[in-house]
Formats: sequence, C-alpha cells, structure tokens
Amino acid sequence: MKKYVVRCLLLLLLSPLTTAKENVTPEDERIRYEGRFDSPAPGTYRTDWPCARLSFGVNNVREEGGSIDVSWSSERVRLNATAWRADGSIASSEIFVGPKWRNKKQTSTLNLPKDASFVTIRKLTQAAPFGTGIGEKALAASVWEYHGVKVTGAEVVSLSPRKRVVEYIGASDSAGYCADGTPDIDGTAALLIDSWLYDNCDLATPGLLANYFDADLWVEAEGGMGLTQNANARIPAFEGKYPLPYFWENQALLTDSSSSWDPTDSNNQLSPDLVVVSLGGNDYNHQHGNVPSNETFSAAYEEFLLKIFSAYESNEDAKILSVCGQGSPAESAFDPDNNRCSPCPHVEDALNDFKINHPELGERAYLGFVPCDGSVVVGDDDIGCAGHKNAVGQQKVFDYLQPLVSEIMDW
Ligand SMILES: *[C@@H]1O[C@H](CO)[C@@H](O)[C@H](O)[C@H]1NC(C)=O
Ligand SMILES: *[C@@H]1O[C@H](CO)[C@@H](O)[C@H](O)[C@H]1NC(C)=O
Repeated sequence: MKKYVVRCLLLLLLSPLTTAKENVTPEDERIRYEGRFDSPAPGTYRTDWPCARLSFGVNNVREEGGSIDVSWSSERVRLNATAWRADGSIASSEIFVGPKWRNKKQTSTLNLPKDASFVTIRKLTQAAPFGTGIGEKALAASVWEYHGVKVTGAEVVSLSPRKRVVEYIGASDSAGYCADGTPDIDGTAALLIDSWLYDNCDLATPGLLANYFDADLWVEAEGGMGLTQNANARIPAFEGKYPLPYFWENQALLTDSSSSWDPTDSNNQLSPDLVVVSLGGNDYNHQHGNVPSNETFSAAYEEFLLKIFSAYESNEDAKILSVCGQGSPAESAFDPDNNRCSPCPHVEDALNDFKINHPELGERAYLGFVPCDGSVVVGDDDIGCAGHKNAVGQQKVFDYLQPLVSEIMDW
C-alpha cells in the first residue's frame, strides 16, 4: 500500500515534466557532439564530416511513447537517428534524407519508445560528393546544419562521455563511400552527384569500431584524399589541391575554407586514445605514374604522425594505427589502377622509418595491414558501388581489425 502511494506521488510529480514539450537548442549542455562542428550563428551548429554525431539521454519516457522532432537544414545529407535502450539495443531508428539542393529548415521525427534511454543522430554522408576541388563550392557540399530538437513526452538528460575516444583519418573506405550502393549503379556523373545517397559511415569500419568499443568517434575522411596528393592529382579541380593532412590541421569543415580548426587547441576537447590513419592508397593509384618518391612519402608520413602525437601529447598512451589495404582480388579487374594493396609497402616503409627516427613514439605506432588476397574482402557480394565495399565488406574489414585493436589498445 505504502509503495503504491509513493509510486502515485512520483508519477504525479513526474507527469508535468514528461508530457511537456521541450525545445533544446544546439548550445544546450545536455547535448554531446562527436566530430568537428562549428557554429556559424547562435542556434545553429554545422558539420560536413561523415560520422559526426550528437547524442543526449532521455528519462521517464511517458507510457505511450514520446517523440523527437529534429530541426535541420542541409544539402545532400542523410542522417541516422536512433533511439537506444540502456543495454545498447536499438529501440527505434530512422534515416532522415534531406533535399538534393539546399533547403530552408525542415523537421524530421523519430519515435521514442517507452524503454528508450538515449538518442543519437549521426551524419552518414561524406562532405564533398564531387571531391574537394569542385565539391568545395557550396554547390555540392554535404553540409548538415542542426538547429535543435523538440522533445515530447520525455525528459532530456546529459549523457556521460563514452568509455574511449577514436579518431579516424582516411579516404573513401573510412568515409563509407558507396557502402549503401550496389555494383549496378552506373554513370560517373550520376554517381558523383548522387553519391550521398549511398554513403554510410555508420556501417563502415569507423562506425562499427566505435559501436563495438563504446568509443566517441571523430572521423576526418573523404573519398579520393591522400597524404601527399589526392587521387587524379593531375586534375586538381576534381579532388582538390590539398591532401587530407592540410584539412586536419586547418579547417573545421572540409568544404569551408573560412571555418578554422586547430587540433592543438585544448578547447576542442579531443584527446583520442586511438588515431587510425588510413591514407596512402590515393597517393599512388590513378596517378598515371606521377607518384611521390619514397623519400617524399616517408617524410610526409613522418611529419603527419609527429603532428598527431604532438597535438595529443597530453595523453601519453595515445596510439596510432596505420591501416592499409582492404581491397579484393577482383578490384584490379574492375579497375586495374586501383589495387588497394599496391601502396602498402610504402606505408609500411614509412612507418618503419618513423620508428627508427622516433623510437619512443614509434612504440605507440602500429601497422594494420588488411590483405587484398581474398582472405578478408572477396569482391563478390561484399562490394557496393564504384568498386567500394558495401556494409558486408566493411563488416569484414572491421572483423579483421577488431582483434588487432583489442590487442594493441588492451581493450
Ligand atoms: C542506423 O544506426 C544503427 C546504430 O548504429 C544501425 O544499427 C543501423 O543499421 C543504422 N541504419 C542504417 C540504415 O544505416
Ligand atoms: C621504394 O619503395 C618500394 C616499396 O618498398 C620499393 O619496392 C622500391 O624499390 C623503392 N624504390 C626505390 C627507388 O628505392
């Protein structure tokens, strides 16, 4: 009897909270952000990086369920909005698809089942569907502007940070380019302008690793990008003239040169435990012989790893994993100049040089070579569009890398 009375009192006390609607602004401290966002104006946060995400907790969802109305504007953006139960299982999930051309504010709704415990909204699309050359122009950029949420029938609470932090720096495979596509999708122009319909960073190796290891995830990855030069470097207008380390060091948004970022600034609150560097393939493939010398590549690799270690020097246990490979035996048939494993000896040499030149830091740098011989990715049923892995292929790469990450990180 006493218990019953207490419960009724509690319900009475809680009901005004949980039936109300609450508008939560992007600046609200209960919202957590992963990945590079900036704020062009009060009330708006924006990002273009794949896998960037926001999250918040929900308490006391009312008996009949609640809802989350997400206010956003975008161009060529898809978002994965998911409500999770406390045990990590999924309570509800929606893919929000924005317009192809820039729109005004729109609202998308996620149902909040009674047993939901927290909500995540993750960007699936990479920043520049045309590459950073043409894609840097506002015409093509996949920018997600977030204006806040209206929460109905639940109380919004803060979430504690996840157990670990992973930063993932790479090119198309790391961005999840074509992971949602199929091999029959054709037409270079259509693929480029519509590629945002097939990107899925959540189901790519970075998203899978972060979910598995309960890690906050910061991805700076974009198709075609390299360490010393981008793919098709002889046509800079296409993939852009700057390789990825330039953006890592300078810009909050890949496609906005006026957005600034300083990885050494502690206000950015990024102190990763693990930084994955999956760069090098595009430096060598599709270059018609115009490739960096071994010395140039090794020196650039050394410089980049030094910058990463130095930016995160407050974490003396931070480690770097250099990932290379993850192709299939069939891909040279699809595109002879796209053997993902052919650049790997250069990456391995560069990493070894780094270890020789910097023995102490070198102990925290590892090679994650993912073979292309068919023992991981087969090339049949695990390929999405444009010769890139679908979710099945990405899962295979994750399955291959996960034990290695567990071992080197002791996770
Ligand atoms: C959305 O995210 C959840 C959690 O990561 C995942 O299980 C689900 O497959 C994703 N949905 C799509 C369509 O990518
Ligand atoms: C450059 O490195 C590659 C990969 O290790 C090696 O096969 C090649 O012989 C090297 N070239 C020169 C000129 O040393």
